[in-house]
Amino acid sequence: MKPLSLFQKKPLCIANWKQYLTLSESVRLYARFQTLGTRYFSSCTIAVAPSAISLAMLSSKSSSVLLGAQQGGIAQAGAYTVEISPRDTRTSGGSFVIVGHSERRQIFGETDVLLRQRLEATYEAGLVPVYCVGESRDIYTKGFRAVKKHLTTQLSLLKGLNGFQKGIVIAYEPVWSIGSGTTPTFAEALAIYRSIREILDGLGILDTKTRILYGGSVQKDNAAGFLHEGGFSGLLIGGASTRFADFRDIIHSLEHIV
Ligand code: 13P
Repeated sequence: MKPLSLFQKKPLCIANWKQYLTLSESVRLYARFQTLGTRYFSSCTIAVAPSAISLAMLSSKSSSVLLGAQQGGIAQAGAYTVEISPRDTRTSGGSFVIVGHSERRQIFGETDVLLRQRLEATYEAGLVPVYCVGESRDIYTKGFRAVKKHLTTQLSLLKGLNGFQKGIVIAYEPVWSIGSGTTPTFAEALAIYRSIREILDGLGILDTKTRILYGGSVQKDNAAGFLHEGGFSGLLIGGASTRFADFRDIIHSLEHIV
């Protein structure tokens, strides 16, 4: 069997469990994900970003599910209270780190300088960043050009980073869509997807292993549309990924996409 990787040909579905689940709930749900069966694992590469404490308890050894962290420190070790060492994520079996989620940018005020350091430390540890970008409702209502300008600024943080040969995952998550039940239309999503590719191309990043995911109120009824019609090669799923049946139904809806 081929080793699991974020860059397999099939779609990538990352479950971001945020701070929704207790440790024991995470262990139980992760175990249920493992039981999904070949049919599901052949439609999509499945990955989970649990809380940091849970991550340490979940082993990815002989697992069909990839693991990663919701946060990565700016260094591998040192006097950085609270931070999560990317090195520890790697030794716990993780293969990626989410960087720049809008909840980190907005609620915790994470700046571009900090995010750039997180990206660098992620690569240094041999992990792949899942770099999140997306506009606020305010920017969205200003129209497509404003959104594209915003995404260009956020993506320019990647310029000159060392490590792209390990690959990069971009997650487009419109902030107004996260947890709201509202999403862009598939036509809007496709326009954004194309813009992101164009911006990445301008940064010289598209040659490398690159995936572009959609995130924000993903449900079984819209999941396939973001891939089929929106062009995205995977999904970053919050709320629905914490409920086994909902997550299974999303994966099931992708069955014919490969
Ligand atoms: P929801 O799927 O709950 O909207 O969250 C999306 C998200 O923020 C994933 O990172």
